[in-house]
Amino acid sequence: MLRYDVGLLDGFLTKGEFDSVKEEIAAASAMLREGSGRGNDYIGWRDLPAVFDKEEYQRIKDAAERIREQSGILLVIGIGGSYLGARAVLELLRGELHNEKTGLKVYFTGNSLSPDDIEDILAICDTADVSVNVISKSGTTTEPAVAFRIFRDYLIRRYGEEESRKRIYATTDRTGGTLRKLSEEHGYETFVIPGDVGGRFSVLSPVGLLPLAAAGIDTDALLEGAEEMRRLTAEDDSLANPSNRYAAVRNLMLRTGKSVEILSCFEPRFRMMGEWYKQLFGESEGKEHKGLFPSTCVFTADLHSMGQYCQDGSRIIFETLVRFSKVDSEMTVHHEEDDFDGLNYLEGKSIHEINNTAADATLSAHTDGGVPCSVIECSRLDEFNVGELIYFFERACAVSGYTLGVNPFDQKGVEAYKRNMFALLDKPGYEEDKKRLLKDK
Ligand code: PA5
Repeated sequence: MLRYDVGLLDGFLTKGEFDSVKEEIAAASAMLREGSGRGNDYIGWRDLPAVFDKEEYQRIKDAAERIREQSGILLVIGIGGSYLGARAVLELLRGELHNEKTGLKVYFTGNSLSPDDIEDILAICDTADVSVNVISKSGTTTEPAVAFRIFRDYLIRRYGEEESRKRIYATTDRTGGTLRKLSEEHGYETFVIPGDVGGRFSVLSPVGLLPLAAAGIDTDALLEGAEEMRRLTAEDDSLANPSNRYAAVRNLMLRTGKSVEILSCFEPRFRMMGEWYKQLFGESEGKEHKGLFPSTCVFTADLHSMGQYCQDGSRIIFETLVRFSKVDSEMTVHHEEDDFDGLNYLEGKSIHEINNTAADATLSAHTDGGVPCSVIECSRLDEFNVGELIYFFERACAVSGYTLGVNPFDQKGVEAYKRNMFALLDKPGYEEDKKRLLKDK
């Protein structure tokens, strides 16, 4: 169960300030509920946990099982919203060392243009049988397209044309794009990214569900958690709705001069979840020269690097801590007869309890240092809670973006670099852009 606690903001935001934003938040929340806001043709994510296509979901589970039977390695090829969610959930639930444990190994590639990184993955491929899940909504994004060309060629050389087809699973748009065309020509099994679900909101669609199910994540519980949060938040436009309260805090912080949100967590396995959050909020709100800069810290490690800045640097930051009341491990600190390290005062305490105490101590220190802190508290680190957390962030992001006055569902800014890159690489159709770029030099 998820709670959003703003108790520590007492000295930073008054009741009057919360009251002042109540109506704006209610209007933004209603816009999302009624589908009357900007970008309303991209709010399909809103109902995904409730209305997910049952036939498609069964095919995902069947394909996941087949992947586990046919391979020891699954390569997930995709970038941005087409990989971050799956990687974030996998690492949060199974840890950053998930590939060192038993079961299917999952490697994410096609999210850069680094030849060294691609070579590293290619070298690993020879250690086990390989399946590929290539994910691209547009079907034309350069990074995954280049990687797919390379790994498809690898599969054909290793398994031959016929067998390689059975090892490729494509997740893409229902009708358009190169990947859809290629899949139909070669008979790859395909999964559909709904047209009204944008990349960064797609983790609860086949984009996230296929790799997660293949990795053995309980996707039923993940979707149940998301559905629980949808049910709790869908109809309530007030600040009692935790996603609205978080959207209110973010907008109030921006208005009171804060420009950076630090999303922190005391679990290193949250690192990629932080990357997912950065994409979700950065790409949704960073437009028209507006928006908070989303950043992350993984404590306690980052207390030894960013801790100084958080405590005493420029007061442009506020902090949102995600914490998990219970984790699986019950490891405790043991007794040492001669107390050689002076740690016997911790004897019998669980490491999780010590970690929680570090979180409490940090919250107090940062609050005293002038950093407004609020807390997202999840009752347990498991699939259900992670599903709740994902939906909480997605809904809060939409309401926060509408309150900010932007369209949270487009990303026109991302096109600028792509256009320049295509022109400089001589892609047909970009000749005029190339002339412009060379003239600017
Ligand atoms: O949120 C988004 O829409 C983007 O981050 C996309 O997911 C990313 O650019 C990848 O696009 P595609 O799935 O079309 O390859």
